[in-house]
Amino acid sequence: MKTLQFKNGDHLPIIGLGTWKSKPGQVYQAVLWALESGYRHIDCAAIYNNQSEVGEALTKAFGDGLVKREDVFITSKLWNSNHRLEDVEEGLTKTLSELRLSYVDLYLMHWPISFKKGVEFAQNREEFYTYQDVPLTQTWEGLESCYIKGLTKHIGMSNFNIAKLSEILDNCKIKPEMNQVEMHPFLPQEKLVKFCKDQGLLMTAYSPLGSGDRASSIKKEDEPDLMNHDLIQDLANKYGCSNAQILIAYSVARGIAVIPKSVNQERIKQNLEAITIELSDEDMLALKNIGKNYRFIDGRFFTGPRSPYTLEDLWEKE
Ligand code: A2P
Repeated sequence: MKTLQFKNGDHLPIIGLGTWKSKPGQVYQAVLWALESGYRHIDCAAIYNNQSEVGEALTKAFGDGLVKREDVFITSKLWNSNHRLEDVEEGLTKTLSELRLSYVDLYLMHWPISFKKGVEFAQNREEFYTYQDVPLTQTWEGLESCYIKGLTKHIGMSNFNIAKLSEILDNCKIKPEMNQVEMHPFLPQEKLVKFCKDQGLLMTAYSPLGSGDRASSIKKEDEPDLMNHDLIQDLANKYGCSNAQILIAYSVARGIAVIPKSVNQERIKQNLEAITIELSDEDMLALKNIGKNYRFIDGRFFTGPRSPYTLEDLWEKE
């Protein structure tokens, strides 16, 4: 399996299994199928509310000798309600107990957004946000401390733009090593990719297939169809593979880890097999010029008249 390499020599398998939206009752089997088909990278988060089941699957896989702990790369993410310095380790400890692990390989600050303790979603209610009193650098200090204690092998963030990354880079003791953001041909994030590369951060692309199974409450009307875009279809015909595999191969070709979510055995297998597809420079250029710029996960659920956050503040202007 092709991997990305961290500075200390650790390897991140470039294709991982996404578990956002994988329901309890499905994710146990999905993780086992993934490990059986050769995945060695599972992407998790506290807010996905399914980590206990992922943990059960990992325990089963380790117990059966399917894989060893040290051969699987596990990522998880700190939720917005544990951003205070004293709450960060507690967030990770809970995740470790759900996953039944003594460490994760990578722990990310999930969003540059802080909620009061215990709040899952603030839903525009002002009293739930804690923007002023929990600067990102404070949360980062909490992640650094988890790293120093060996609870995570690497630390990083998700959904950070250049300004927010710079705030951390300018004030940290331990440099972040990963920024996980939405990325696909409709949202290539070229500026951010260049910045991360220059600063020595690896990247992971989430929602690489357009995240079509999102709850309708966080979907916009008239969303463009990434998976069935004409160019994606044409390339799938040309390479003799599925549309999803083209989208996965696109990220691999850019040297960006990619975490397609699936709970279907065939699709889980197929997504990993995308590793064998090598898109030509000409086809990568065509994908670059696809002519649409679209963010599926725009974070609007964190904004609103009573929220201190705005979309302009969250995202990069490309
Ligand atoms: P399923 O879990 O039933 O396979 P994203 O990773 O962008 O969030 O996209 C996840 C969505 O894409 C889910 O609806 C998932 O459905 C679907 N999906 C995953 N892999 C494939 C594939 N190879 N072909 C078609 N749909 C896929």
